[in-house]
Amino acid sequence: MCGIVGYVGPKRVTDVLLAGLARLEYRGYDSAGIAVVHEGSIETVRRVGKLSHLIGAVAEDPVEGSIGIGHTRWATHGRPSEENAHPHADCTGRIAVVHNGIIENYTELREELQAAGHTFRSETDTETVSHLVESLYAGDLAEAVRLATRRLHGSYALAVVHADDTGTIIAARRDSPLIIGEGAGENIVASDIPAVLEHTREILVLEDGQVATVTADSISVVDAEGLPVTCERMHVEWDLEAAEKGGYEDFMLKEIHEQPKAVRETLRGRMGEDGTVQLSELAMTTEEVAGIRRVIVIACGTSYHAGLVAKTLVEQWARVPVEVDVSSEFRYRDPIVGGDTLVVAITQSGETADTLASVREARDRGAKVLAITNVVGSRVTREADGVIYTHAGPEIGVAATKTFTAQIAALYVLALKLAQAKGTLSPAQVQHVWSGLMALPGIIERILGDQGALQECADQYKDGCLSSLFLGRGIGVPVAMEGALKLKEISYIHAEAYPAGEMKHGPIALITPHVPVVAVATKGRTYDKVVSNLQEVRARGAETIVVATEGDTEIVKHAEHVLYVPETDEDLVPIPAAVPLQLLAYYIAKAKGCNVDQPRNLAKSVTVE
Ligand code: G6P
Repeated sequence: MCGIVGYVGPKRVTDVLLAGLARLEYRGYDSAGIAVVHEGSIETVRRVGKLSHLIGAVAEDPVEGSIGIGHTRWATHGRPSEENAHPHADCTGRIAVVHNGIIENYTELREELQAAGHTFRSETDTETVSHLVESLYAGDLAEAVRLATRRLHGSYALAVVHADDTGTIIAARRDSPLIIGEGAGENIVASDIPAVLEHTREILVLEDGQVATVTADSISVVDAEGLPVTCERMHVEWDLEAAEKGGYEDFMLKEIHEQPKAVRETLRGRMGEDGTVQLSELAMTTEEVAGIRRVIVIACGTSYHAGLVAKTLVEQWARVPVEVDVSSEFRYRDPIVGGDTLVVAITQSGETADTLASVREARDRGAKVLAITNVVGSRVTREADGVIYTHAGPEIGVAATKTFTAQIAALYVLALKLAQAKGTLSPAQVQHVWSGLMALPGIIERILGDQGALQECADQYKDGCLSSLFLGRGIGVPVAMEGALKLKEISYIHAEAYPAGEMKHGPIALITPHVPVVAVATKGRTYDKVVSNLQEVRARGAETIVVATEGDTEIVKHAEHVLYVPETDEDLVPIPAAVPLQLLAYYIAKAKGCNVDQPRNLAKSVTVE
């Protein structure tokens, strides 16, 4: 993953770089570093661990200069250490490189460069780029970078500086995100928009293979062949405040509380006055939508769980068979995809490498691809045939929360659209579902209004709990899976999710008084069955934490802790039921003293395969 930033302009370079890196820290935080060009030489500062270590080092020993580049790392090649931290220099120390991505042929390049006399100081794939640029440099850094990128296999977003040029940053990308913020008399290169927003809202998006020469007053871009090109520009509407904590202790808690808005905004404008579902982004006529015979959902992580909810909805409402696949499996398994298949790619960031590769695979095989993403202008929006945006606002906490419920909201709209086109739901049924959806933001607000029981429950499991089991049935299974994912991501407690009925075929052997069982037991078709499963685990000594429907007083007989959610139609349960499980994970992790916004080993946006 990693985040990169580069600045050229009149402001204090280190201030801009460190502030930019702070906004990119969600992309990785194994180490951080900067390189600043000053009067014909490059000064580099690197530190292992969080950005705060680098900030401390720069405060102690300030670095001055006219331009600079910075990096926050999520280790892929080489352990987190100072030698492996970016920026990486060439042999002369006159070139510095920051990189996000993976150079797949780095071993071969490294051997070639070593044979030519280059000395390597790190274990990283990135250092090959520094030496490669050095070997190709003949006074024109942009040309050297362009020629170097032609030798690279894999993915890269690069920012490169040379000690000889105190006014130019070279930026290049392929399959890793990179934007350039165009300011007045200053320009800033970055992996993501929040890093540039303090300086400008005008963004230039580099395309694959392009190389940009960035000075304080100009940005010129060439393609892989060295021919000048004009890049797409866009204006960013949302402001920096939206990406800040807004008074909450953590981004995660703030984002959990933003769910009523995220769901409301995602549903806004989707129901026409004539009762038809509005989804022009599908870019298909009603006949074409009615002709869809199969749906395949591809996604990773939390987005995958949203996809599992969609399976139940689409199959039940539109009577179209749905397969849900994790992207890293789909792309390698020779999938059966045809012209009558709609592929739905769900990706919060729009940059997940495996999901993007799956989108290409599906389109090559003739399918239409609809993307559901939260990030305007992200890679997936250029690769898919149509895009539905979740209007959740920027999500900074690494563990997805508001984007999960917003994704499900978008999937309700899609499922209703398919059902309407196929005539499998009557207008009255569509209207009934829609009224239920409109009530969801208010329901989430009620759940968020009373967190006392949750905090009490979390306190009890902060110590001594090493493992847990999450159960659900039907549409409750993906909710249980997401609840388990949240808990393991941020509290490091092992959590396994299982369809409750399947538990007796294995996981029940794990039950002891020290393995709490969390169950989704809201009112619905399988309520009684889930209650039986609760009895089974309690008979074996387990303590249970149960998400149940308000007014269900019977359930207290089967649970140590009950987390009530207001009543909804069974099909709409995933959104309200997800919220207490997010909060449960949050409070347990906080009680354990964990960093919920930046859990260890994870990254928000996984741009490597
Ligand atoms: C990472 C994040 C998860 C996210 C997954 C998929 O693993 O830590 O929170 O669900 O990537 O990301 P996407 O942006 O494609 O939804």
